[in-house]
Amino acid sequence: MDSSSSSSSKLVISVFILFLFPISSFSLPFIILHGIGDQCSNKGMTQFTQELTDLSKSQGFCIEIGSGAWDSWFMPLLEQTQVVCDKVKKMKELSNGYNIVGLSQGNVIGRGVVEFCDGGPQVHNLISLGGPHAGTASVPLCGSGIFCKIADALIKSEVYSDYIQEHLAPSGYLKLPNSIDTYLQHCRFLPKLNNEIPEERNSTYKERLISLQNLVLIMFEQDTVLIPKETAWFGYYPDGKFTPVLAPQQTQLYIEDWIGLRTLDEAGRVKYINVSGNHLGISDSDIKKHVIPYLKDETITVDDKIPQRAASLLHGYSSYTWPPSVKSFFSDLIGLSGIY
Ligand SMILES: *[C@@H]1O[C@H](CO)[C@@H](O)[C@H](O)[C@H]1NC(C)=O
Ligand SMILES: *[C@@H]1O[C@H](CO)[C@@H](O)[C@H](O)[C@H]1NC(C)=O
Repeated sequence: MDSSSSSSSKLVISVFILFLFPISSFSLPFIILHGIGDQCSNKGMTQFTQELTDLSKSQGFCIEIGSGAWDSWFMPLLEQTQVVCDKVKKMKELSNGYNIVGLSQGNVIGRGVVEFCDGGPQVHNLISLGGPHAGTASVPLCGSGIFCKIADALIKSEVYSDYIQEHLAPSGYLKLPNSIDTYLQHCRFLPKLNNEIPEERNSTYKERLISLQNLVLIMFEQDTVLIPKETAWFGYYPDGKFTPVLAPQQTQLYIEDWIGLRTLDEAGRVKYINVSGNHLGISDSDIKKHVIPYLKDETITVDDKIPQRAASLLHGYSSYTWPPSVKSFFSDLIGLSGIY
């Protein structure tokens, strides 16, 4: 494909364009998909979007799903993925391709867009901050209060029921190693996303994931939200057991290459990155080192002289508290199931 004549003509074209437009007009735009309980209008998200835009000189868009925080909790993930798919197809700015920055739950949605979105624009880089790619084995969403204990117990016992699957987004990637059969049969999102069900594997998902230029997997060394934290790299527990945590390369998903992770990795296009901090607590310097390079057009090098800040940009962990609406959802559910 890349004959020398075509690449030199590309060069001529880009040199020509350079004279006509400001530099930013041909770097790829990016979208941001926020985590659970967050929304694009929150101060943290608007600042994060702005910061990435300023540092990369690329155009960034925070994509909202439905009403924001509420729907991030209660809209099933296949529907959330479809919402994003419909939006990116309509955005003219993205028609020549774009990058995705995912935060936590936003990453499985982002990967869903890469794999499932028929006719969507091409995704070049998927930059994942703390994504539960191989699932998560707990719902460490609330503190230690009695209510949280009840909710956690309830989720664990009923998580694969149709009711929970239809009403609680995170149930789509809760993977309990001691309930793998039930998970494979009834969990509606992650088994599909990861091509885990032998009879239902779809090679299109794999082809589309392989078409990424880079899959950047950022894991937080002190992550207490994702269980285990290595899920951010596709590491996970073996079926049936809570120990040990398998490295990504030791999982069946990788070995049998269900979604193309192995192919991508062997081509050097999976970046396993390990940063210090709790869930989503990434520092500015790590953002500059591990995120920004993938948002910039690689042909342009701009030396950013933006002062370092010690504080971290995102305080994602703080959004993992239960809003009152979630509490009433569970009160109703507990009422319904006659536990109390
Ligand atoms: C696989 O996924 C593609 C893309 O969504 C879809 O068009 C196709 O029908 C699927 N194939 C099967 C066998 O389900
Ligand atoms: C992550 O980085 C820390 C500090 O550099 C190191 O001690 C640790 O072994 C790394 N973890 C992995 C899984 O690479």
